[in-house]
Amino acid sequence: MRVDEHPILGPAARSNRVWIELDGKRIEAYEGEPIAVALIAAGVKWFRKTVKGHAPRGIFCAIGRCTDCVMIVDGIPNVKTCVTPVRNGMKVQTQIGRGNWGVSDGEV
Ligand code: FES
Repeated sequence: MRVDEHPILGPAARSNRVWIELDGKRIEAYEGEPIAVALIAAGVKWFRKTVKGHAPRGIFCAIGRCTDCVMIVDGIPNVKTCVTPVRNGMKVQTQIGRGNWGVSDGEV
């Protein structure tokens, strides 16, 4: 869900409509909005699973402080999607554990 009409700020300014990819599935987004906003608008509820127990995590602070929203973006793990703007054609992946840095640490 996106806020289209804010009671104080008025109508939302929208940039170009673009597409990103989440785990191979195309999702519509607006260029420059946080990746997390595009994912939530598409109905995505969790973005990663924890190292211990693989518990699902999604948005918590939404200001780049907690790391609950980290995902693999264009091959780079641990990207905070709540503060990372959308670019057309981005490839976003659900992150399991610490993500893959190309080094085996027992987690994938
Ligand atoms: S939700 Fe806390 S860093 Fe993104």
